[in-house]
Amino acid sequence: MMKAIVQDAYGSVDVLRLDEVAKPQVGDDDVLVRVRATSVHPDVWHVMSGRPYVLRLMGAGLLKPKNRVPGTDMAGQVEAVGKNVTDFKPGDDVFGETLSGYQWVNGGTFAEYVTVKAERLALKPENITFEQAAAVPTAGLIALNNLREFGRVLPGQSVLINGAGGGVGALAMQLAKAYGAEVTAVDHTTKLDMLRSLGADHVIDYTQDDYTQGSERYDLIFDVPGNHSFSICRRALKPDGKYVLIGHEHFGQSGHRLLGLIPLMFKLMALSLFVKQLPRPNFSLPPKKESMATLTEFLEAGKITPVIDRTYPLSEASDAMRYLIDGRSHGRVVVTP
Ligand SMILES: NC(=O)c1ccc[n+]([C@@H]2O[C@H](COP(=O)([O-])OP(=O)(O)OC[C@H]3O[C@@H](n4cnc5c(N)ncnc54)[C@H](OP(=O)(O)O)[C@@H]3O)[C@@H](O)[C@H]2O)c1
Repeated sequence: MMKAIVQDAYGSVDVLRLDEVAKPQVGDDDVLVRVRATSVHPDVWHVMSGRPYVLRLMGAGLLKPKNRVPGTDMAGQVEAVGKNVTDFKPGDDVFGETLSGYQWVNGGTFAEYVTVKAERLALKPENITFEQAAAVPTAGLIALNNLREFGRVLPGQSVLINGAGGGVGALAMQLAKAYGAEVTAVDHTTKLDMLRSLGADHVIDYTQDDYTQGSERYDLIFDVPGNHSFSICRRALKPDGKYVLIGHEHFGQSGHRLLGLIPLMFKLMALSLFVKQLPRPNFSLPPKKESMATLTEFLEAGKITPVIDRTYPLSEASDAMRYLIDGRSHGRVVVTP
């Protein structure tokens, strides 16, 4: 048996409670990892709350979560490997995401142990902590795919990251710098020093200035909060610039209870057939293993540095989630089993 956070219903942070559950079994292609750190991020909130409701039909579980143990990202030590696994051995320090695709489902990382398909793991760089490594997989994969595959970032381009102080934005900003772009970071007053220290060339305080009203024109706008419509953001784009929307439901405050941001994403996809500033849908993204290898290289080279705000013990995972929802964090929130 092992300790884990479980949820037997959708709801507020109070549905998360510590329990004893069976230690996972290792399949032939699996790696059993002793979890040293797991990150708390908006997608964990989505499955905790069961919102938008459509996620319950998309594999999370209709009336309650199919997998009772939340969490998708982790870093830890390999405890055992299945008979087909050759890339990892017991004792290796690893990090990764337990999910196969880009889904809203519980991935089992809020626990002392988790099994992960070997293809979703990478060796943890020695220059970062388990806490930092656990903050990278999902946010890093979103940032990398949207910058590289959709945004087509190139050296010398001017890139604006809206929401650069958040989990995805802070990695996107550092990745854009690593790809040789000149980066403008937009976020709250209190996060601007952090953004400068992470390498932002220019910063904009969203409480004082509206980047869409300025005279600057960007090659790429990477928009996390999506607080302006595309037609307004377009004013700040060069004619051949690109706009990528990540989107953020702000823990239910956006109010789209049934479908979330899915209708908006479909609208932008449809528009992309006529507007070259919007990336066309791309259903052949690089495999996660390849993208994890890219992120690992940037971490090892010190080009991206995850910032950790607070660490909570496993038994206080619901407090960690409450702190994330309160929106006071400057950096990532991590749980250490
Ligand atoms: N982080 C992850 O690991 C992860 C994983 C899976 C999916 N995602 C998805 O990616 C999206 C973003 O997640 P995230 O973790 O990056 O969220 P986040 O940490 O909350 O970051 C959002 C950032 O945008 C800022 N912001 C809010 N309003 C703004 C405005 N009007 N102008 C400019 N900036 C503004 C926020 O600042 P304030 O503090 O002032 O509000 C915050 O720094 C979400 O849809 C989430 O579901 C993230």
